[in-house]
Amino acid sequence: MEHLLIRGKRPLVGEVSISGAKNAVVAIIPAAIIADGVSIIDNLPAIEDVKCLQDSLTKLGAVCQLIDEGTLMVDSSALNNFNATFNSVRRIRASYYLMGALLARFKQAKVALPGGCNFGTRPIDLHLKAFRALGAEVDEDYENGIISLKADKLVGTNIFLDTVSVGATINIMLAATLAEGVTVIENAAKEPHIVDTANFLNMMGARIRGAGTDVIRITGVKELHGAEYMIIPDQIEAGTYMIAAAACGGHVCVKNIIPKHMDSLTTKLKEIGCRVIEGDDFVEIVSEGRLKSTKIKTMAYPGFPTDLHPQMAAGLSKADGVSILTETVWENRFQYINELRKFGCDIMVDGRVAAIHGIEELHGAEVMATDLRAGAAMIIAGLTADGITKIGNVRFIDRGYEKIEYKLKALGADIKRVKE
Ligand code: EPZ
Repeated sequence: MEHLLIRGKRPLVGEVSISGAKNAVVAIIPAAIIADGVSIIDNLPAIEDVKCLQDSLTKLGAVCQLIDEGTLMVDSSALNNFNATFNSVRRIRASYYLMGALLARFKQAKVALPGGCNFGTRPIDLHLKAFRALGAEVDEDYENGIISLKADKLVGTNIFLDTVSVGATINIMLAATLAEGVTVIENAAKEPHIVDTANFLNMMGARIRGAGTDVIRITGVKELHGAEYMIIPDQIEAGTYMIAAAACGGHVCVKNIIPKHMDSLTTKLKEIGCRVIEGDDFVEIVSEGRLKSTKIKTMAYPGFPTDLHPQMAAGLSKADGVSILTETVWENRFQYINELRKFGCDIMVDGRVAAIHGIEELHGAEVMATDLRAGAAMIIAGLTADGITKIGNVRFIDRGYEKIEYKLKALGADIKRVKE
Protein backbone atom coordinates (compact mmCIF):
# COMPACT_ATOMS: atom_id res chain seq x y z
CA MET A 1 0.00 0.00 0.00
CA GLU A 2 1.22 3.53 -0.67
CA HIS A 3 0.38 6.78 1.05
CA LEU A 4 1.24 10.45 0.66
CA LEU A 5 2.98 12.37 3.45
CA ILE A 6 2.57 16.15 3.49
CA ARG A 7 4.04 18.82 5.76
CA GLY A 8 1.61 21.70 5.33
CA LYS A 9 1.49 25.50 5.56
CA ARG A 10 3.85 26.28 2.71
CA PRO A 11 2.86 28.70 -0.05
CA LEU A 12 2.79 27.37 -3.63
CA VAL A 13 4.96 29.27 -6.10
CA GLY A 14 5.94 28.48 -9.67
CA GLU A 15 4.51 26.78 -12.76
CA VAL A 16 2.52 23.58 -13.26
CA SER A 17 1.84 22.03 -16.66
CA ILE A 18 -1.54 20.31 -17.08
CA SER A 19 -1.84 16.86 -18.67
CA GLY A 20 -4.41 15.51 -21.13
CA ALA A 21 -8.01 15.30 -19.94
CA LYS A 22 -8.91 12.04 -18.17
CA ASN A 23 -12.60 12.27 -19.05
CA ALA A 24 -11.81 12.90 -22.71
CA VAL A 25 -9.20 10.15 -23.08
CA VAL A 26 -11.40 7.50 -21.42
CA ALA A 27 -13.98 8.14 -24.16
CA ILE A 28 -11.55 8.57 -27.05
CA ILE A 29 -9.66 5.30 -26.46
CA PRO A 30 -12.88 3.20 -26.74
CA ALA A 31 -13.98 5.38 -29.70
CA ALA A 32 -10.83 4.31 -31.57
CA ILE A 33 -12.08 0.70 -31.82
CA ILE A 34 -15.03 1.71 -34.00
CA ALA A 35 -12.55 2.11 -36.87
CA ASP A 36 -10.98 -0.92 -38.52
CA GLY A 37 -7.53 0.68 -38.51
CA VAL A 38 -4.83 2.56 -36.60
CA SER A 39 -5.32 5.67 -34.46
CA ILE A 40 -2.60 7.70 -32.72
CA ILE A 41 -3.71 9.51 -29.57
CA ASP A 42 -1.40 12.20 -28.24
CA ASN A 43 -1.13 14.19 -24.97
CA LEU A 44 -2.20 11.06 -23.09
CA PRO A 45 -2.09 11.47 -19.28
CA ALA A 46 -0.11 8.74 -17.45
CA ILE A 47 -2.99 7.71 -15.19
CA GLU A 48 -4.42 4.40 -14.01
CA ASP A 49 -7.71 4.75 -15.92
CA VAL A 50 -5.79 4.85 -19.20
CA LYS A 51 -3.82 1.70 -18.29
CA CYS A 52 -7.10 0.00 -17.41
CA LEU A 53 -8.62 0.80 -20.81
CA GLN A 54 -5.42 -0.27 -22.59
CA ASP A 55 -5.79 -3.63 -20.83
CA SER A 56 -9.45 -3.93 -21.88
CA LEU A 57 -8.78 -3.11 -25.54
CA THR A 58 -5.90 -5.59 -25.65
CA LYS A 59 -8.16 -8.32 -24.31
CA LEU A 60 -10.63 -7.47 -27.09
CA GLY A 61 -7.92 -8.16 -29.65
CA ALA A 62 -6.75 -4.64 -30.40
CA VAL A 63 -3.08 -3.64 -30.32
CA CYS A 64 -2.96 -0.80 -27.83
CA GLN A 65 0.49 0.43 -26.89
CA LEU A 66 2.47 3.51 -25.98
CA ILE A 67 4.75 4.44 -28.88
CA ASP A 68 6.22 7.41 -27.05
CA GLU A 69 5.69 9.02 -23.65
CA GLY A 70 2.11 10.30 -23.79
CA THR A 71 1.37 8.85 -27.23
CA LEU A 72 -0.83 5.77 -27.65
CA MET A 73 -1.22 3.72 -30.82
CA VAL A 74 -4.51 1.80 -31.13
CA ASP A 75 -4.70 -0.72 -33.98
CA SER A 76 -8.18 -2.22 -33.92
CA SER A 77 -7.99 -3.97 -37.30
CA ALA A 78 -7.60 -7.34 -35.58
CA LEU A 79 -10.38 -6.63 -33.08
CA ASN A 80 -12.35 -9.85 -32.98
CA ASN A 81 -14.19 -9.92 -29.71
CA PHE A 82 -17.24 -8.01 -28.48
CA ASN A 83 -17.26 -9.72 -25.10
CA ALA A 84 -15.90 -7.16 -22.64
CA THR A 85 -16.72 -8.89 -19.36
CA PHE A 86 -13.26 -9.14 -17.82
CA ASN A 87 -12.04 -7.51 -14.60
CA SER A 88 -10.35 -4.48 -16.10
CA VAL A 89 -13.79 -3.47 -17.43
CA ARG A 90 -15.33 -3.65 -13.97
CA ARG A 91 -12.66 -1.38 -12.49
CA ILE A 92 -13.66 1.95 -14.04
CA ARG A 93 -16.93 3.66 -14.87
CA ALA A 94 -15.75 4.78 -18.32
CA SER A 95 -15.83 1.13 -19.44
CA TYR A 96 -19.46 1.82 -20.30
CA TYR A 97 -18.16 3.51 -23.49
CA LEU A 98 -17.26 0.03 -24.75
CA MET A 99 -21.02 -0.57 -25.12
CA GLY A 100 -21.47 2.24 -27.65
CA ALA A 101 -18.20 1.52 -29.45
CA LEU A 102 -18.70 -2.26 -29.77
CA LEU A 103 -22.35 -1.81 -30.75
CA ALA A 104 -21.27 0.54 -33.55
CA ARG A 105 -18.52 -1.81 -34.76
CA PHE A 106 -20.12 -5.25 -34.33
CA LYS A 107 -23.81 -4.43 -33.79
CA GLN A 108 -23.45 -6.42 -30.61
CA ALA A 109 -21.66 -6.21 -27.26
CA LYS A 110 -21.45 -7.85 -23.89
CA VAL A 111 -20.00 -5.47 -21.31
CA ALA A 112 -19.53 -5.90 -17.56
CA LEU A 113 -21.29 -3.29 -15.48
CA PRO A 114 -18.79 -0.48 -14.79
CA GLY A 115 -17.21 0.34 -11.43
CA GLY A 116 -15.74 3.75 -10.59
CA CYS A 117 -16.08 6.29 -7.80
CA ASN A 118 -18.65 5.31 -5.25
CA PHE A 119 -20.84 8.33 -4.58
CA GLY A 120 -24.31 7.07 -5.24
CA THR A 121 -26.05 4.58 -7.47
CA ARG A 122 -24.60 5.97 -10.73
CA PRO A 123 -27.25 4.40 -13.02
CA ILE A 124 -26.80 3.85 -16.75
CA ASP A 125 -30.53 3.71 -17.58
CA LEU A 126 -30.26 6.66 -19.99
CA HIS A 127 -27.51 4.89 -21.93
CA LEU A 128 -29.57 1.70 -22.28
CA LYS A 129 -32.79 3.55 -23.13
CA ALA A 130 -30.92 5.33 -25.95
CA PHE A 131 -29.44 2.09 -27.31
CA ARG A 132 -32.96 0.61 -27.41
CA ALA A 133 -34.21 3.74 -29.21
CA LEU A 134 -31.48 3.17 -31.84
CA GLY A 135 -32.81 -0.35 -32.40
CA ALA A 136 -30.72 -2.52 -30.09
CA GLU A 137 -32.08 -5.31 -27.91
CA VAL A 138 -30.63 -4.81 -24.43
CA ASP A 139 -30.48 -7.53 -21.77
CA GLU A 140 -29.65 -6.32 -18.27
CA ASP A 141 -28.25 -9.20 -16.22
CA TYR A 142 -27.66 -7.50 -12.86
CA GLU A 143 -27.08 -10.84 -11.13
CA ASN A 144 -23.87 -11.36 -13.09
CA GLY A 145 -23.31 -7.67 -13.73
CA ILE A 146 -23.40 -7.97 -17.52
CA ILE A 147 -25.18 -5.85 -20.14
CA SER A 148 -25.76 -7.61 -23.48
CA LEU A 149 -26.66 -5.60 -26.58
CA LYS A 150 -27.56 -6.80 -30.06
CA ALA A 151 -28.99 -5.10 -33.16
CA ASP A 152 -29.66 -6.22 -36.73
CA LYS A 153 -29.04 -2.60 -37.56
CA LEU A 154 -28.95 0.74 -35.76
CA VAL A 155 -31.30 3.41 -37.08
CA GLY A 156 -30.92 7.10 -36.24
CA THR A 157 -33.65 8.66 -34.12
CA ASN A 158 -34.39 11.61 -31.83
CA ILE A 159 -33.29 11.12 -28.21
CA PHE A 160 -34.20 13.54 -25.43
CA LEU A 161 -32.08 12.98 -22.29
CA ASP A 162 -34.25 13.31 -19.14
CA THR A 163 -31.08 14.23 -17.21
CA VAL A 164 -28.03 15.98 -18.63
CA SER A 165 -25.59 13.08 -18.74
CA VAL A 166 -21.98 13.17 -19.94
CA GLY A 167 -21.75 9.41 -20.26
CA ALA A 168 -25.04 8.94 -22.05
CA THR A 169 -24.31 11.83 -24.46
CA ILE A 170 -20.96 10.32 -25.45
CA ASN A 171 -22.26 6.74 -25.61
CA ILE A 172 -25.05 7.77 -27.97
CA MET A 173 -22.55 9.62 -30.19
CA LEU A 174 -20.39 6.48 -30.33
CA ALA A 175 -23.26 4.14 -31.25
CA ALA A 176 -24.86 6.57 -33.73
CA THR A 177 -21.72 7.18 -35.84
CA LEU A 178 -22.45 4.10 -38.00
CA ALA A 179 -26.24 4.03 -37.61
CA GLU A 180 -28.48 4.52 -40.65
CA GLY A 181 -29.82 8.06 -40.87
CA VAL A 182 -29.66 10.95 -38.42
CA THR A 183 -29.62 10.80 -34.62
CA VAL A 184 -30.43 13.97 -32.68
CA ILE A 185 -29.53 14.17 -28.99
CA GLU A 186 -31.49 16.85 -27.15
CA ASN A 187 -30.62 18.09 -23.67
CA ALA A 188 -27.10 16.84 -24.40
CA ALA A 189 -24.25 17.49 -21.96
CA LYS A 190 -21.82 20.22 -23.11
CA GLU A 191 -18.59 19.39 -21.23
CA PRO A 192 -15.26 20.03 -23.01
CA HIS A 193 -14.62 16.27 -23.13
CA ILE A 194 -17.78 15.80 -25.16
CA VAL A 195 -16.53 18.27 -27.77
CA ASP A 196 -13.14 16.54 -27.72
CA THR A 197 -14.68 13.12 -28.34
CA ALA A 198 -16.87 14.50 -31.15
CA ASN A 199 -13.82 16.13 -32.75
CA PHE A 200 -11.92 12.85 -32.64
CA LEU A 201 -14.87 10.93 -34.13
CA ASN A 202 -15.15 13.54 -36.91
CA MET A 203 -11.42 13.13 -37.62
CA MET A 204 -12.25 9.41 -38.01
CA GLY A 205 -14.87 10.28 -40.66
CA ALA A 206 -17.96 10.61 -38.50
CA ARG A 207 -20.45 13.42 -39.13
CA ILE A 208 -21.25 15.02 -35.75
CA ARG A 209 -22.46 18.59 -35.45
CA GLY A 210 -23.41 20.65 -32.40
CA ALA A 211 -21.18 19.06 -29.76
CA GLY A 212 -20.80 21.61 -26.96
CA THR A 213 -24.41 22.71 -27.35
CA ASP A 214 -27.47 20.93 -25.97
CA VAL A 215 -28.48 19.60 -29.40
CA ILE A 216 -26.08 17.23 -31.16
CA ARG A 217 -26.80 15.80 -34.64
CA ILE A 218 -25.02 12.63 -35.76
CA THR A 219 -25.46 11.60 -39.41
CA GLY A 220 -24.55 7.93 -39.75
CA VAL A 221 -21.76 6.99 -42.19
CA LYS A 222 -20.68 3.62 -43.61
CA GLU A 223 -17.40 3.27 -41.76
CA LEU A 224 -14.78 5.14 -39.76
CA HIS A 225 -11.01 5.16 -40.32
CA GLY A 226 -8.18 5.64 -37.83
CA ALA A 227 -7.08 9.19 -36.99
CA GLU A 228 -4.34 11.10 -35.20
CA TYR A 229 -5.55 13.24 -32.35
CA MET A 230 -4.30 15.34 -29.43
CA ILE A 231 -6.33 15.25 -26.21
CA ILE A 232 -7.42 18.59 -24.71
CA PRO A 233 -5.94 19.67 -21.34
CA ASP A 234 -7.70 18.40 -18.22
CA GLN A 235 -10.15 21.03 -16.91
CA ILE A 236 -10.43 19.27 -13.53
CA GLU A 237 -6.70 18.73 -13.00
CA ALA A 238 -6.19 22.43 -13.83
CA GLY A 239 -8.93 23.45 -11.41
CA THR A 240 -7.43 21.30 -8.67
CA TYR A 241 -4.10 23.17 -8.87
CA MET A 242 -5.86 26.54 -9.10
CA ILE A 243 -7.78 25.79 -5.89
CA ALA A 244 -4.62 24.49 -4.19
CA ALA A 245 -2.85 27.76 -5.06
CA ALA A 246 -5.77 29.79 -3.69
CA ALA A 247 -5.90 27.77 -0.47
CA CYS A 248 -2.14 27.67 0.22
CA GLY A 249 -1.40 31.25 -0.77
CA GLY A 250 1.34 32.13 -3.22
CA HIS A 251 1.59 32.66 -6.98
CA VAL A 252 1.07 29.77 -9.36
CA CYS A 253 0.94 29.73 -13.17
CA VAL A 254 -1.24 26.82 -14.36
CA LYS A 255 -0.22 26.31 -17.98
CA ASN A 256 -1.14 24.23 -21.04
CA ILE A 257 -4.84 24.80 -20.38
CA ILE A 258 -7.86 26.28 -22.17
CA PRO A 259 -8.76 29.21 -19.87
CA LYS A 260 -12.32 29.33 -21.25
CA HIS A 261 -12.96 25.89 -19.71
CA MET A 262 -12.10 27.31 -16.30
CA ASP A 263 -14.52 30.29 -16.32
CA SER A 264 -16.87 29.04 -13.57
CA LEU A 265 -13.91 28.44 -11.21
CA THR A 266 -11.98 31.55 -12.17
CA THR A 267 -15.02 33.66 -11.33
CA LYS A 268 -15.28 32.03 -7.89
CA LEU A 269 -11.57 32.41 -7.12
CA LYS A 270 -11.81 36.15 -7.85
CA GLU A 271 -14.89 36.32 -5.60
CA ILE A 272 -13.00 34.80 -2.65
CA GLY A 273 -10.10 37.23 -3.00
CA CYS A 274 -7.60 35.77 -5.46
CA ARG A 275 -6.03 37.78 -8.26
CA VAL A 276 -6.39 35.88 -11.55
CA ILE A 277 -4.33 36.67 -14.65
CA GLU A 278 -5.51 34.90 -17.84
CA GLY A 279 -3.36 34.22 -20.90
CA ASP A 280 -3.98 32.26 -24.12
CA ASP A 281 -3.02 28.93 -22.59
CA PHE A 282 -2.45 29.66 -18.90
CA VAL A 283 -4.06 31.11 -15.80
CA GLU A 284 -2.05 32.68 -12.96
CA ILE A 285 -3.46 32.57 -9.44
CA VAL A 286 -2.13 35.06 -6.87
CA SER A 287 -3.45 34.43 -3.37
CA GLU A 288 -2.50 36.59 -0.38
CA GLY A 289 -4.24 36.84 2.98
CA ARG A 290 -7.32 35.02 4.19
CA LEU A 291 -9.84 33.84 1.58
CA LYS A 292 -13.44 35.04 1.74
CA SER A 293 -16.37 32.61 1.98
CA THR A 294 -18.74 32.14 -0.96
CA LYS A 295 -21.66 30.11 -2.33
CA ILE A 296 -21.12 27.26 -4.80
CA LYS A 297 -23.73 25.24 -6.68
CA THR A 298 -22.44 22.42 -8.90
CA MET A 299 -24.03 22.29 -12.34
CA ALA A 300 -23.42 20.68 -15.71
CA TYR A 301 -20.95 22.58 -17.91
CA PRO A 302 -20.52 25.54 -18.17
CA GLY A 303 -21.62 25.64 -14.50
CA PHE A 304 -19.31 24.90 -11.58
CA PRO A 305 -18.07 21.30 -12.11
CA THR A 306 -19.12 18.69 -9.59
CA ASP A 307 -15.63 17.22 -9.97
CA LEU A 308 -14.15 20.34 -8.32
CA HIS A 309 -16.60 20.36 -5.42
CA PRO A 310 -14.50 18.37 -2.88
CA GLN A 311 -11.36 20.37 -3.68
CA MET A 312 -13.29 23.64 -3.21
CA ALA A 313 -14.68 22.47 0.13
CA ALA A 314 -11.13 21.84 1.34
CA GLY A 315 -9.98 25.17 -0.07
CA LEU A 316 -12.75 27.08 1.75
CA SER A 317 -12.15 25.38 5.12
CA LYS A 318 -10.10 28.36 6.40
CA ALA A 319 -12.04 31.08 4.56
CA ASP A 320 -13.51 33.98 6.55
CA GLY A 321 -17.21 33.24 7.15
CA VAL A 322 -19.56 30.42 6.15
CA SER A 323 -19.52 29.00 2.59
CA ILE A 324 -22.54 27.13 1.24
CA LEU A 325 -21.86 24.30 -1.21
CA THR A 326 -24.78 22.65 -3.02
CA GLU A 327 -24.16 19.43 -4.97
CA THR A 328 -26.85 19.03 -7.67
CA VAL A 329 -25.31 16.24 -9.81
CA TRP A 330 -24.53 13.34 -7.45
CA GLU A 331 -26.83 12.36 -4.57
CA ASN A 332 -24.05 11.20 -2.29
CA ARG A 333 -20.81 13.04 -2.93
CA PHE A 334 -20.21 14.25 0.64
CA GLN A 335 -18.57 11.07 2.01
CA TYR A 336 -15.22 12.88 2.11
CA ILE A 337 -16.53 15.43 4.64
CA ASN A 338 -15.91 13.02 7.53
CA GLU A 339 -12.27 12.82 6.43
CA LEU A 340 -12.04 16.63 6.21
CA ARG A 341 -13.36 16.89 9.77
CA LYS A 342 -10.23 15.02 10.94
CA PHE A 343 -8.28 18.22 10.04
CA GLY A 344 -10.55 20.16 12.40
CA CYS A 345 -12.79 21.45 9.59
CA ASP A 346 -16.16 22.74 10.77
CA ILE A 347 -18.63 21.50 8.15
CA MET A 348 -22.34 20.68 8.44
CA VAL A 349 -24.06 18.57 5.76
CA ASP A 350 -27.81 18.40 5.19
CA GLY A 351 -28.81 16.37 2.12
CA ARG A 352 -27.11 17.94 -0.87
CA VAL A 353 -25.99 21.09 0.96
CA ALA A 354 -22.81 21.61 2.99
CA ALA A 355 -22.18 24.65 5.21
CA ILE A 356 -18.43 25.20 5.58
CA HIS A 357 -17.64 27.41 8.59
CA GLY A 358 -14.13 28.75 7.98
CA ILE A 359 -11.71 28.19 10.87
CA GLU A 360 -8.37 29.88 11.61
CA GLU A 361 -6.19 26.79 11.37
CA LEU A 362 -6.33 23.19 10.16
CA HIS A 363 -4.07 20.64 11.84
CA GLY A 364 -2.44 17.69 10.06
CA ALA A 365 -4.40 14.42 10.05
CA GLU A 366 -4.30 10.78 8.99
CA VAL A 367 -7.01 10.36 6.33
CA MET A 368 -8.10 8.16 3.42
CA ALA A 369 -9.03 9.13 -0.11
CA THR A 370 -12.64 7.96 -0.44
CA ASP A 371 -12.61 8.57 -4.22
CA LEU A 372 -10.54 10.33 -6.86
CA ARG A 373 -11.57 13.95 -6.27
CA ALA A 374 -11.97 13.41 -2.53
CA GLY A 375 -8.32 12.34 -2.57
CA ALA A 376 -7.43 15.64 -4.22
CA ALA A 377 -9.38 17.44 -1.48
CA MET A 378 -7.36 15.61 1.20
CA ILE A 379 -4.16 16.80 -0.48
CA ILE A 380 -5.37 20.42 -0.52
CA ALA A 381 -6.36 20.21 3.16
CA GLY A 382 -2.97 18.66 3.99
CA LEU A 383 -1.12 21.39 2.09
CA THR A 384 -2.88 24.10 4.11
CA ALA A 385 -2.85 22.32 7.50
CA ASP A 386 -0.31 22.99 10.26
CA GLY A 387 1.73 19.78 10.70
CA ILE A 388 1.96 16.40 9.02
CA THR A 389 -0.81 14.73 6.99
CA LYS A 390 -0.86 11.09 5.87
CA ILE A 391 -3.23 10.15 3.02
CA GLY A 392 -4.06 6.49 2.27
CA ASN A 393 -5.79 4.95 -0.81
CA VAL A 394 -3.44 6.87 -3.08
CA ARG A 395 -4.51 4.52 -5.89
CA PHE A 396 -7.75 6.51 -6.14
CA ILE A 397 -5.74 9.69 -6.72
CA ASP A 398 -3.53 7.98 -9.31
CA ARG A 399 -6.64 7.18 -11.35
CA GLY A 400 -6.92 10.79 -12.47
CA TYR A 401 -3.79 12.77 -11.54
CA GLU A 402 -0.51 12.28 -13.36
CA LYS A 403 2.59 12.63 -11.12
CA ILE A 404 0.68 14.76 -8.61
CA GLU A 405 3.39 14.72 -5.90
CA TYR A 406 6.07 15.75 -8.42
CA LYS A 407 3.96 18.60 -9.76
CA LEU A 408 3.22 19.85 -6.24
CA LYS A 409 6.84 19.45 -5.10
CA ALA A 410 7.88 21.63 -8.06
CA LEU A 411 5.56 24.30 -6.63
CA GLY A 412 7.31 24.17 -3.25
CA ALA A 413 5.06 21.69 -1.45
CA ASP A 414 6.63 19.33 1.08
CA ILE A 415 5.00 16.10 -0.16
CA LYS A 416 6.26 12.60 -0.77
CA ARG A 417 4.88 9.16 -1.66
CA VAL A 418 5.77 6.41 0.84
CA LYS A 419 5.42 2.68 0.25
CA GLU A 420 4.29 0.88 3.37
C1 EPZ B 1 -18.92 11.78 -15.87
O1 EPZ B 1 -19.56 10.74 -15.15
C2 EPZ B 1 -17.54 11.89 -15.26
N1 EPZ B 1 -16.82 10.64 -15.45
C3 EPZ B 1 -17.64 12.22 -13.78
O2 EPZ B 1 -16.31 12.49 -13.34
C4 EPZ B 1 -18.45 13.50 -13.59
O3 EPZ B 1 -18.67 13.70 -12.22
C5 EPZ B 1 -19.80 13.41 -14.32
O4 EPZ B 1 -19.59 13.04 -15.70
C6 EPZ B 1 -20.54 14.74 -14.30
O5 EPZ B 1 -19.77 15.73 -14.93
C7 EPZ B 1 -16.32 10.37 -16.67
O6 EPZ B 1 -16.43 11.16 -17.59
C8 EPZ B 1 -15.61 9.05 -16.81
P1 EPZ B 1 -23.31 11.68 -15.85
P2 EPZ B 1 -20.94 10.12 -15.72
O7 EPZ B 1 -23.86 10.60 -16.69
O8 EPZ B 1 -20.94 10.13 -17.18
C9 EPZ B 1 -27.46 10.70 -13.73
C10 EPZ B 1 -14.32 12.19 -12.14
O9 EPZ B 1 -14.04 12.51 -10.98
N2 EPZ B 1 -27.57 9.61 -14.71
O10 EPZ B 1 -23.08 13.03 -16.43
O11 EPZ B 1 -21.16 8.86 -14.98
C11 EPZ B 1 -26.36 10.44 -12.72
O12 EPZ B 1 -26.85 9.64 -11.66
C12 EPZ B 1 -15.67 11.58 -12.44
O13 EPZ B 1 -13.58 12.38 -13.14
C13 EPZ B 1 -28.72 8.87 -14.74
O14 EPZ B 1 -29.64 9.09 -13.98
O15 EPZ B 1 -21.98 11.22 -15.17
C14 EPZ B 1 -26.01 11.84 -12.28
O16 EPZ B 1 -26.93 12.27 -11.28
C15 EPZ B 1 -16.47 11.35 -11.17
N3 EPZ B 1 -28.82 7.85 -15.65
C16 EPZ B 1 -26.23 12.68 -13.55
O17 EPZ B 1 -27.05 11.89 -14.41
C17 EPZ B 1 -27.81 7.58 -16.54
O18 EPZ B 1 -27.98 6.66 -17.37
C18 EPZ B 1 -24.95 13.02 -14.29
O19 EPZ B 1 -24.26 11.82 -14.55
C19 EPZ B 1 -26.63 8.35 -16.49
C20 EPZ B 1 -26.53 9.38 -15.57
